[in-house]
Amino acid sequence: MPGKAIKRILRKPVDHLRRLRTRKLIDRIRSHGDSRISAVGRALSDTLSGNLKEEDRESMGLIEQRRTGLLRSTDEIDVIDYGAGNPDSMRSKEEMAGGVHARRKVSDVCGASKPPFWCVFLYRLLRELGCSSCVELGSCVGISAAYQAAALNNNGMGTLRTLEGCPEIARLAEETIKGLGLENTTVITGPFNETLEGVLSESSPVDFFFNDGHHDHDAVLDYFRRSLPFLSREAVIVFDDISWSPGMRSAWTEIEEDDHVAASFDLGEIGIALIGSGSGSGSRFRIHLGSLMKQWQSPGGSE
Ligand SMILES: C[S@@+](CC[C@H](N)C(=O)[O-])C[C@H]1O[C@@H](n2cnc3c(N)ncnc32)[C@H](O)[C@@H]1O
Repeated sequence: MPGKAIKRILRKPVDHLRRLRTRKLIDRIRSHGDSRISAVGRALSDTLSGNLKEEDRESMGLIEQRRTGLLRSTDEIDVIDYGAGNPDSMRSKEEMAGGVHARRKVSDVCGASKPPFWCVFLYRLLRELGCSSCVELGSCVGISAAYQAAALNNNGMGTLRTLEGCPEIARLAEETIKGLGLENTTVITGPFNETLEGVLSESSPVDFFFNDGHHDHDAVLDYFRRSLPFLSREAVIVFDDISWSPGMRSAWTEIEEDDHVAASFDLGEIGIALIGSGSGSGSRFRIHLGSLMKQWQSPGGSE
């Protein structure tokens, strides 16, 4: 009992110290000599502080309106899921390759989209990096794709190809993209196994690869290795849900240790791998965003 009371008293100062330490680390990353590393630092600190331009806020507001509409939808669609299901689903390779059929509410499907914090971070990262050719694995209903496309649009350059296995979900992603007038983005429908190679070759050299589809150890490593020949010399790969399951965690550890990865960032939920070599070679950053994220307020008005 006294232990619990002491913990409760100490929670606030401990959280405060953690936030200070994390802010210091992010400041250090911001002023790093390697341009890609400092770009990640700026994207993170601007996301956390809400330091956004008016045009950024406008784009984000429109995308969040679309998200809200989908989350309120009472429609149902036929879904084919080629992914890993839940962390405890234990789907076999055959099940994932054949796809699992179900009828689902659009609102539930939309619930798998990245929350605003991470979408704003992706957006800021792309604004900082100024990429030309981008690929996303896992469009879902097009929310994270719309953030990336809007960043490229506001940069005045760049295209995005986003891949989705389920035709009905891909149709919603297309509606999202078209409805927002984002002409720099194409949705490609079909299982990644069948579409990835062709898309990578059309998009080569790929500057930015957001891997948010198939949350399975072997699949993540397979897509990573297959993407390597098509990446630009200084490509950036963002892996989502690296802590989703023990398999995803160990896939991320293998990626961090891969010889093609010059530097990496472990942000708990997502991992960022900088390909190639550079002044930051060998750097591995671990950033605990926990209590800073709790205080965060969405610029788009939701969450
Ligand atoms: C987590 S959701 C993507 C969320 C989206 N990036 C966002 O934040 O707005 C993953 C999507 O990948 C698709 N997917 C998973 N595994 C796949 C595979 N092997 N082939 C094709 N699509 C797949 C699923 O249908 C699902 O819509």
